[in-house]
Amino acid sequence: MARLTTFRDLRAVVTGASSGIGQALARRLGREGARLALVARREEALQQLKGEIEAGGGSAEVFAADLADREQAVAAARSAEAQLGGVDLLVNNAGFGGRRRFVECELDAMDRMLRVNYTAALAMAHTLLPGMLERRRGWLVFMSSVAGKIPTPLEAPYAASKAALLALAEAVSLEVEGDGVHVLTVCPGVIETPFFSEADWKQMPAVARRGAVPVDSLVDRIVHALARGRHELTHPGPIAFAYRVKALAPGFMRRQVKRTTLG
Ligand SMILES: NC(=O)c1ccc[n+]([C@@H]2O[C@H](COP(=O)([O-])OP(=O)(O)OC[C@H]3O[C@@H](n4cnc5c(N)ncnc54)[C@H](OP(=O)(O)O)[C@@H]3O)[C@@H](O)[C@H]2O)c1
Repeated sequence: MARLTTFRDLRAVVTGASSGIGQALARRLGREGARLALVARREEALQQLKGEIEAGGGSAEVFAADLADREQAVAAARSAEAQLGGVDLLVNNAGFGGRRRFVECELDAMDRMLRVNYTAALAMAHTLLPGMLERRRGWLVFMSSVAGKIPTPLEAPYAASKAALLALAEAVSLEVEGDGVHVLTVCPGVIETPFFSEADWKQMPAVARRGAVPVDSLVDRIVHALARGRHELTHPGPIAFAYRVKALAPGFMRRQVKRTTLG
């Protein structure tokens, strides 16, 4: 059950489907026969994607929601479940970042980031897990980040939200793996999506900019990881080497991170 090898008739919820990674993944799932629930705030973009998926012979429904509001997150999950007649795959992907010194961040803005990046994912997984456990069939995907593994300066609240997702996913995975539910956590490096503004690209350390990869390469890796029953995926793969360096030589890693991000 851990391996997800076909998406035909799979009932899938994708959050953050109006842009970037979520949009590209939803497109792929739709092409491969999944029945989709698309969640984000921008309803027009979701409707456009729904049209595209349906034109290709697939099926999709739109659930516009502001995931900063936990009640809207739960309501979107419940409506999608009712409409699809159950959910087999939840991709908790919606999220946003921001570059600023921690001391300059506003508390309300940091709270909002945590609610979108972490609390909404927790709430949607918590809402949909009982159905998955009852059917002894389900997959939860959490879109974390390399920043959750190797926190960098100027993105403290973002890194914290992604680290929280990693911990949540790992603990839940251990609880449910004997009951037919599989958890995959994805840690992207730098993916070419609207996540980064032009100013972000300019400010980004050269080493990170050079490592940027197209979104479809990540989608391919996610599909592959689900088919293999993997629990964690870092893309591009070689970045995962840095986790080992951090574990074995934390002082060295600390200096590297500081040098490459703060100069
Ligand atoms: N791109 C990267 O290099 C990278 C690296 C590591 C991790 N990630 C993670 O990957 C995920 C997707 O990022 P992306 O690169 O695809 O960025 P993106 O193109 O900016 O897409 C972000 C998605 O999240 C949705 N979202 C943001 N705030 C929301 C809210 N309050 N309520 C509902 N939906 C909301 C957006 O939809 P609306 O604006 O329509 O609401 C959009 O669909 C994020 O969690 C991000 O942290 C990305």
